[in-house]
Amino acid sequence: MSITTGDFRSKITSSTLLEKKQRKEIITCLTAYDYPSARLVDEAGVDMVLVGDSLGMVMLGYENTLPVTMQEMLHHTRAVRRGVKRAFLVADMPFASFHVTQRDALRNAARFIKEAGAEAVKIEGGEKRSRLVERMVEAEIPVVGHIGLTPQSLHAMGGYKVQGKTLQAVEQLMHDAIALERAGACCIVLEGIPREVAGMITRELEVPTIGIGAGPECDGQVLVFHDLLGLTFAPPAKFVRRYADLASVIGNAVVAFKDDVKAGSYPSDAESYHLPKETLSALAGIAQRKRAVQL
Ligand code: KIV
Repeated sequence: MSITTGDFRSKITSSTLLEKKQRKEIITCLTAYDYPSARLVDEAGVDMVLVGDSLGMVMLGYENTLPVTMQEMLHHTRAVRRGVKRAFLVADMPFASFHVTQRDALRNAARFIKEAGAEAVKIEGGEKRSRLVERMVEAEIPVVGHIGLTPQSLHAMGGYKVQGKTLQAVEQLMHDAIALERAGACCIVLEGIPREVAGMITRELEVPTIGIGAGPECDGQVLVFHDLLGLTFAPPAKFVRRYADLASVIGNAVVAFKDDVKAGSYPSDAESYHLPKETLSALAGIAQRKRAVQL
């Protein structure tokens, strides 16, 4: 297997991300949900790995991210932790894990760091989350903010809709981004907003912005691993660029296996284990003696 190697010299931390923004060096981020995807993404030199709650849809077949539990997120984060050596590892806090009391939200956030090895947690929401972000940062838990189209607000937003289209909405987004930065967020995901708005926010903030469906003016870009690989079943969103069509590759391989087994061509003799010669001749001797007795 050949993979493009990245810069393996230094571990990426929240400070590295800030330095990258200052040097105008683009930040790369992908989701990963298990050990193999984590290794592939990390070894390709991607800066940030996000265990997104999108795993609910991509890996677990839920209709949206709302049913995802703390247990599921911790389980997948642990697997990803085992595969990531260099990238900055961020875990998504699932719906209702931080919308509860501040005390429960802090306890849940700490579990990602303490029990699953994440280096930061991501929470959806802007200004209204800023006090919680402050408390998390005080508790030594780095936080990634997430504003714009926040999938956990699906019902409140009335569907997955591009956000920040009116003057008032643009002002609110800017307000949200500044409030999160002031509260201590180490970077902010901008999802599903016009590129012009993402550009304005990116220029206003000192901390990096990571865009998804937010145009090219962000400090970094994130995509869902399975979207980029063409390993999903629904048609992709406008912003997704597919770099492979793994659903067809895998589908064809599975059909070929099934056909070979049915045709009796798998496994072949070369794909089978064999008895050692001595055991084989001993067995032949036993069979011969049995036949002699029967005669
Ligand atoms: O859950 C997720 O994968 C995300 C990214 C799309 C930003 O939140």
